[in-house]
Amino acid sequence: MQQYDVIVIGSGPGGYTGAIRCAQLGLKTAIIEKYNTLGGTCLNVGCIPSKALLDSSEHFFNASHTFAEHGIKLDHLAVDLPQMITRKQDVVDQTTKGVAFLMKKNKIDTYYGVGSFVDAHTVKIAKTEGGEETISGKNIIIATGSKPMSFPSMPLDKKRVITSTEALKLTEIPKHMIIIGAGVIGAELGSVYARLGAKVSFVEFADSMIPTMDKTMGKELQKSIKKLGADFYFNHKVTKVENTGSEVVVSVETPKGETITMTGDYCLVSVGRKPYTDGLNLEAAGLAVDGRGKIEVDDHLQTKVPHIYALGDVIRGAMLAHKAEEEGVFIAETIAGQKPHVNYLLIPNVVYTWPEVAAVGYTEEELKNKGMAYKVGSFPFKALGRARASMDIDGLVKVLADKETDELLGVHIIGPRAADMIAEAVMAMEFRASAEDVSRISHAHPTYTEAFKEACLVATDNRAINM
Ligand code: FAD
Ligand code: NAI
Repeated sequence: MQQYDVIVIGSGPGGYTGAIRCAQLGLKTAIIEKYNTLGGTCLNVGCIPSKALLDSSEHFFNASHTFAEHGIKLDHLAVDLPQMITRKQDVVDQTTKGVAFLMKKNKIDTYYGVGSFVDAHTVKIAKTEGGEETISGKNIIIATGSKPMSFPSMPLDKKRVITSTEALKLTEIPKHMIIIGAGVIGAELGSVYARLGAKVSFVEFADSMIPTMDKTMGKELQKSIKKLGADFYFNHKVTKVENTGSEVVVSVETPKGETITMTGDYCLVSVGRKPYTDGLNLEAAGLAVDGRGKIEVDDHLQTKVPHIYALGDVIRGAMLAHKAEEEGVFIAETIAGQKPHVNYLLIPNVVYTWPEVAAVGYTEEELKNKGMAYKVGSFPFKALGRARASMDIDGLVKVLADKETDELLGVHIIGPRAADMIAEAVMAMEFRASAEDVSRISHAHPTYTEAFKEACLVATDNRAINM
């Protein structure tokens, strides 16, 4: 039986990053993946393919809606959806092959098959190619990720009542896509199909889009997505979803308790994701999941069996690729005897719509609930020369700073390239900068980042220059 210092079960961003860091630290490492390609949800059916389609659909939208104003004329513009999906798949294939290359480069043994515990040190692999193999590890990392969630009232058939996985490979542009849940997946994939010409209707339990982010972001995002022709049904509850063959009928309870029905050709269920531990045989290792299906871990990401660790979507916290990656590195360095640290407050959160939404730190609602005294600095992109030059004027930067010390407590951006801009805020907050610190740093002109500086000037002493 092969012996390893570390066995990683699951090759998503958490698993493969952790495996590489283990190998870098001289630990003999194996990784097990049940699918034929590495990279997990993120690379195969999550972050990467969704961004590929977001980019393609944004190109089409710009070509059909904004190019003329830039003085660019196009005739006979059309969407070739099969080509769009093919390009997306090419991007995915290149990326997942890249991970396989990295495993080889770092001398990590890769096993394809379902991994399950035999005991707390032994893992059996039911190999994809057939047969079984058993390997043993001094340490084991569970990195098995998550799967889409649904409710009994909205049974998935994966043809018309679909999850994000199917929405990434549709063969036709929906006429009317009903989206249950206006969270991150709803906002991103709803944008893709709305830009390509679908009618999109959001049915959301809460009172806004992306309801767990700062409320200003949800309000502003709704305005932008409304411009794509979308409809919103907030505070509405889905009671029944039925595939009638060529259509989906969705019954919805309004805030007044009345029932309305909506008819579409596709219904995307994006109501969250649940941790995935099926087939792991956790009991054999002396482990169990909590009431929400998550594996419990302590501050060192150790389960109650200390040499078994867990990370990413299968444990508590944000279900984000870069959170899982930080945890992979954290576990590898802990196993190697180092004292790593993850600052969970400063894990940024990004929605890749256009304009993009990006945030780090506390929301205004969280500061209110905590009873913390804060001040707000807000600056709209439309006041920036760079934004007007590109016609990307929607959105704003909102900065929350401590009322007494001026320390940045939260930064929330909706606007062009917010996803990349948030890195400056993360860096500033990691070094515990004040709003005034940021406002005294030179920002290149003309750039979108000037909006961050100006918002900090507003927060410091209400002394924005360009507003
Ligand atoms: P996963 O990536 O889920 O990987 C787990 C792996 O374990 C899978 O490959 C699975 O097959 C394997 N596995 C499970 N059980 C076993 C077993 N018993 N044996 C062997 N292998 C097993 N996050 C972002 O940060 N940015 C984004 O832009 C973003 N976009 C997203 C878009 C979509 C449509 C979706 C669905 C998710 C998106 N996410 C995004 C979330 C991100 O994909 C997850 O947070 C991330 O993949 C979690 O990483 P992980 O390593 O915990 O698990
Ligand atoms: P989500 O948690 O972002 O949004 C789910 C939405 O559904 C919420 O707004 C919730 O109020 C609503 N909802 C829940 N039950 C409902 C019901 N019965 N009827 C109507 N609405 C209901 O989850 P989502 O969008 O499914 O994404 C799952 C996770 O994947 C995200 O939490 C995120 O961690 C990750 N992800 C990250 C992305 C990124 O970082 N850009 C992109 C896509 C996914």
